[in-house]
Amino acid sequence: MVSTSPHIKIQMLSKQYEGRGRSRLVLDQIDTTIGHGEFVVLVGRSGSGKSTLLNLLGGLDRPSTGDVLIDGQSLAALDEDALSRLRRHKVGYMFQFFNLVPTLTVAENLLLPLDLLGVAEPEAESRIRDWLAAVGLAGRATDYPDELSGGEQQRVALARALVHRPGLLLADEPTGNLDLTTARDVLRLLDDLCRRSGTTLVMATHSQEVIGMADRVLTIRDGRLVAADDMAADDMAAR
Ligand SMILES: Nc1ncnc2c1ncn2[C@@H]1O[C@H](COP(=O)(O)OP(=O)(O)OP(=O)(O)O)[C@@H](O)[C@H]1O
Ligand SMILES: [Mg+2]
Repeated sequence: MVSTSPHIKIQMLSKQYEGRGRSRLVLDQIDTTIGHGEFVVLVGRSGSGKSTLLNLLGGLDRPSTGDVLIDGQSLAALDEDALSRLRRHKVGYMFQFFNLVPTLTVAENLLLPLDLLGVAEPEAESRIRDWLAAVGLAGRATDYPDELSGGEQQRVALARALVHRPGLLLADEPTGNLDLTTARDVLRLLDDLCRRSGTTLVMATHSQEVIGMADRVLTIRDGRLVAADDMAADDMAAR
């Protein structure tokens, strides 16, 4: 039977940054749900809170008020250890800059998340092989990141984000640092691999092309989620 419970439930989520005598409400009581296997893009002007929201969804940061539930588990109810276990098991991350460890080979970079989960070596090796093949880099296991092009590095980062079967992939402008053609290739691969593995994908982006591929667009404006139609008006006003 298909599960109808949401993968992610965002409940009255607010984030206020305090500092140097100023405070700034970046997210203001956001409420929504995201289904299993859904591809959701987060859009909004620079500084609107996309990265902030991704960090809260992945338990990398704590909200000021409100909560995020992943598979029904409240993140607010977890202490730091439990939160880091949840991240290791259930979340994969991709960033604009590829964040590979430069002193480790491609295969060793992929081994990191598996090591943290205690996946035994033969199983880990076979998964690494499979994921490198899936991103078209079967022959590059022993290369170091600086021997790869930007697109190749981001494909390694994609394999690393999925190798531990996280169920949820959070991607923060993952193609923002690539030329258009390479960005398109990485994006298609990302979409394809997430759909085939049933991975929920939440991606912050400025790219119209990404927006066209997504199942749903969430626009952040003035700390709130607004309907997609309002975004067009917002863009027009910005011109
Ligand atoms: N650690 C922090 N302390 C104080 N303010 C912060 C902090 N992190 C982010 N902010 C502020 O929160 C707002 C939202 O930032 P965020 O990085 O989430 O925006 P964004 O939508 O991802 O922007 P971009 O498209 O430029 O990546 C910004 O005004 C930023 O200055
Ligand atoms: Mg950002």
